[in-house]
Amino acid sequence: MDGYDLLDGKTGVIFGALNEDSIAWSVAQACHREGADFVLSNAPVARRLGSLDALAEETDSPIIWADATDDEELAALFEEVKDEYGSIDFIVHSIGMGVNVRKDVPYEDLNYNWYEQTLDVSAVSLHRIVNHALDTEAIDDGGSILAMSYIGAERIFSKYSEMGDAKALLESIVRSFGYRLGERNIRINAISQSPTKTTAGSGIDGFDAMYEFAERVAPLGNADADSCADYAVTLLSDLTRMVTMQTLYHDGGFSTMGISDEIVEAMEDAFAEDEEDE
Ligand code: NAI
Repeated sequence: MDGYDLLDGKTGVIFGALNEDSIAWSVAQACHREGADFVLSNAPVARRLGSLDALAEETDSPIIWADATDDEELAALFEEVKDEYGSIDFIVHSIGMGVNVRKDVPYEDLNYNWYEQTLDVSAVSLHRIVNHALDTEAIDDGGSILAMSYIGAERIFSKYSEMGDAKALLESIVRSFGYRLGERNIRINAISQSPTKTTAGSGIDGFDAMYEFAERVAPLGNADADSCADYAVTLLSDLTRMVTMQTLYHDGGFSTMGISDEIVEAMEDAFAEDEEDE
């Protein structure tokens, strides 16, 4: 796709690109296409697990490694960002991890140390990042901050477990900080994205079923990472300067649907098979 120069002259930080499948990877490519300059960041452990160097080369971006749960590392990151750009116009938070989910611990029986880790990595990290961006005066008036969420924040998707709580907190932080950032015309929003085949997504037991169900329910099908990135670009651009404190669905229409013909027919077939078996 050709760019529209929507982010021409803008600078930012993009957190959470691990590999080619990552939503943040597509977001970085789209921001680059639209003329932005940015720092890429991920947890130090991702240096070993991922392939961020390739994205840095492709988009001509520096990398600053920082654990998004570590205040000192985040403060140092934003000081470095200031040295690089003076001040920045946008921040993308695309970070998440469910520790109990990964270890198959059921919701009724959560390990609370892991639960705290899940909330810290997936939600409180947004608060920390905004806090340090303000504290170091790295973010400019009129800036835009974006986080990635999932409809499991507001409705129960059984296997999403503790991550539903983490996303509910994330969306609440978007609202609470949004009020306070308004006086500097800084806006903050979350995209509620379709199930997407990424490392974090595939870490959820039952992900394939959630993906296929949403694909059959959403009139447009599931939104992929590249289309999410295009939407993200609009939210980082001046075109959406009056949009803040929102959770915005990017899900092919899934959130407004109840049931679709495809699911009705699949259920009817399943019932017919059950009756034959009896
Ligand atoms: P991903 O696994 O590619 O990205 C998650 C990122 O979080 C990784 O880059 C990982 O290194 C980073 N991370 C984990 N712990 C960290 C820490 N302590 N400090 C800094 N970074 C850390 O997966 P994906 O799917 O691209 O996830 C990005 C965001 O999109 C997450 O917030 C996720 O919950 C959200 N999302 C994902 C959906 C999906 O189905 N994949 C659907 C809706 C939202």
